[in-house]
Amino acid sequence: MKISPLALICMLSACSAATIGPGASAPNSSSEPATASAPEEPTPLPANPAAIPAEEAPASPYESETEAPALAFSIDQANFGRDVFRASCTACHSSSEFSDRSFKFKWRRRSAGDLYRHMYSTMPEDAPGSLAPSEYVALVAYVLRLNGVDAGEGELPADEEALEGLSLAAIAN
Ligand code: HEC
Repeated sequence: MKISPLALICMLSACSAATIGPGASAPNSSSEPATASAPEEPTPLPANPAAIPAEEAPASPYESETEAPALAFSIDQANFGRDVFRASCTACHSSSEFSDRSFKFKWRRRSAGDLYRHMYSTMPEDAPGSLAPSEYVALVAYVLRLNGVDAGEGELPADEEALEGLSLAAIAN
């Protein structure tokens, strides 16, 4: 088997794709529509690194495998979820369905991400996905509250991947 010297170097050391890339041409960006007037420049956010105390720079939340991230939601988020529930869900559901034994048994081994995904991909049954991500995640917070999980300082993020790491085990307490 023949190995070119360049490939060998790449195998022995970190080799950027550019070194071995076939030299594909850059995509042509000349298709941008010409605008008559220059777009307004957005005001840049003031960079103020001094405002962030160095000692509070968080380590990676997933650094420790043993410590699960907290299932944190605020009372405001849960209250917002209750309002969304009343507006969009009570045509078919009562809130008690989401804290009874069968609900707890069904969901306690799943994650907040599973519940979030289930809601946005199937509910409301007559218009799945029709609510905003912030509304769906508030509904998850509301369901936690219904199940007696304590509200705290943080908010659940409207981010399925982050929610995947949050176990719903606390609803069975
Ligand atoms: C048009 C009627 C209808 C509306 C409106 C509706 N749902 Fe549902 N929902 C259903 C039905 C029917 C089921 C059972 C479906 C199934 O199990 O396949 C269900 C099941 C669910 C489940 C699963 C319950 C369990 O025990 O696992 C959740 C969670 C849920 N709905 C949340 C919501 C939320 C949140 C809203 C409001 C955004 C909503 N639903 C609005 C009809 C509705």
